[in-house]
Amino acid sequence: MTMHLQPDGFRDAMSRFATGVTVISTLDEDGAPRGITVNSFGSLSLDPPLVQWNIIKTSYSYPVFHRANRFAVNILAADQETVSRNFCKAIDRFATVGIETGMEGLPLISGCAAWIECCVTDEFPGGDHAIFIGQVERCRVFDRLPLIVWRRIYFDMDKVHRGDACSKASASSDG
Ligand SMILES: Cc1cc2nc3c(=O)[nH]c(=O)nc-3n(C[C@H](O)[C@H](O)[C@H](O)COP(=O)(O)O)c2cc1C
Repeated sequence: MTMHLQPDGFRDAMSRFATGVTVISTLDEDGAPRGITVNSFGSLSLDPPLVQWNIIKTSYSYPVFHRANRFAVNILAADQETVSRNFCKAIDRFATVGIETGMEGLPLISGCAAWIECCVTDEFPGGDHAIFIGQVERCRVFDRLPLIVWRRIYFDMDKVHRGDACSKASASSDG
């Protein structure tokens, strides 16, 4: 079906691109852990190893990432739907997860499928979002299946393997 461009139509079309789910984490100026659920994450370059993601500039977290020199990509595992939901809420997000410490004190979320630790190389404007580029300094992977989101529905890949149901994401995905 052809859709003429309307904001809801664009969001609906983008939501049909299935992605993994990450929490991008960093430390703020006071050394407190900060993080946001993101599915706009992707790989950018192999040599040098670069990744990219973007954030809406009106978010409370944007100024924190704008000032940060580093960030970590926490690739959520199949059973971490609650983590994805919590890292959109106005709560003490890191009180809801186990934390491990990465390079330069970066907060890493326990139980993820992978951690990718980066130093920020660039920030570019992109409409109402800002695009961050990071050079990968360290990766760690774990033997866990990923959490997937498609049309704002979460798919626990462990359950998909067993043919169980999926559940609707409450927060909108704007990445
Ligand atoms: C699955 C999913 C993916 C998301 N991806 C992005 C994204 O790529 N960029 C973004 O700015 N917000 C994204 N969001 C929304 C943010 O997580 C949400 O607006 C943010 O946590 C608000 O935090 P704040 O307290 O910094 O304003 C996503 C939300 C969900 C549920």
